[in-house]
Amino acid sequence: MTVISTPVDFNEEELYVDLRPMVGHALFLKCEGFNFAGSIKLKAATEMVEAAEWSGALRPGSILVESSSGNLGVALSVIAASKGYGFVCVTDSRCNLSARRFIEALGGRVHTIAEPAADGGLLGARIAHVRALCAADDRYVWLNQYANADNWRAHYRTTAPAIARHFPELDVLFVGAGTTGTLMGCARYFRELRRRVRVVAVDSAGSVTFGGEPGRRMIPGLGTSVRPALLNESYVDDVLLVEEADTIRACHRLARRGFLFGGSTGTVVSGAARWLSGHDARDLTAVAIAPDLGERYLDTLYQSTWLHDLFGDDVLGPDELTADLELDLDRCPLHPGCQPLSP
Ligand SMILES: Cc1ncc(COP(=O)(O)O)c(C=O)c1O
Repeated sequence: MTVISTPVDFNEEELYVDLRPMVGHALFLKCEGFNFAGSIKLKAATEMVEAAEWSGALRPGSILVESSSGNLGVALSVIAASKGYGFVCVTDSRCNLSARRFIEALGGRVHTIAEPAADGGLLGARIAHVRALCAADDRYVWLNQYANADNWRAHYRTTAPAIARHFPELDVLFVGAGTTGTLMGCARYFRELRRRVRVVAVDSAGSVTFGGEPGRRMIPGLGTSVRPALLNESYVDDVLLVEEADTIRACHRLARRGFLFGGSTGTVVSGAARWLSGHDARDLTAVAIAPDLGERYLDTLYQSTWLHDLFGDDVLGPDELTADLELDLDRCPLHPGCQPLSP
């Protein structure tokens, strides 16, 4: 039995999904979504808040403010509520409605930025808004996940050693890149302690993090429109870019097996499967990190109108459609004329 008194005291660190049946290689998916914030961001948020308390930057009466597309905001709202701080999350139109509701349910506020900055896009505009709040009122404290070393330190201290403990023979680690906190913490740990582990960064096509051309990105979590200050590419062995249509297909392939994961997990799994099939991977053991679960994406990734409007009618093939066409589940045997509730 586990008994806790604050929400950050619980985090499932030991759970992996065996993806061999799906990708045909020894790929294990580390599930980071089982905690009270529902994502890996609880670790970064906890580390950054505790360091800010330690330094005296955060004190009773402070208001945390952060630019987040959802999960860090959710994690900070959990911590702010449990410790009695205020919290303002600055986001943009790609923030999931459920993340907004979650933050507000815990007493936080969400500021949504609609206009991209001329230089730096929506992310640039969000950061300008955070800076303006801090300049206007000195109770606001910005942890700045994009540049805060405690973001990567959280993963150096927790995520990477947990993986190393369970996979002493690990060959390849696939990590999605948003702020690159997870990537840099794991990459630094394995570079310093287990030199033979190859660390592969997985990013969305359209992200500028690794020097690509900016492009449309509809799925929150991975990718940036401003290169993250935390990134040091010398620690990264390989970089993969994944098209969002491939992300969606991977998410739906997992869902067909009963595993509902978030978008960035689809990106990482799609990239990992491609990398493993392009290398002589027969004897390799690989781990990929799944940052969150799929419930926050029910109105987007797992909603057919959203999918078809943005990615076309043929984005999902027979391997990815969750309802088996041959079973004909859309036809009700009791009421032949009745339609499924949602398209
Ligand atoms: C769903 C999801 N995936 C991946 C990431 C990327 O993690 P990191 O910021 O550590 O690169 C995030 C970060 O917000 C996320 O919310």
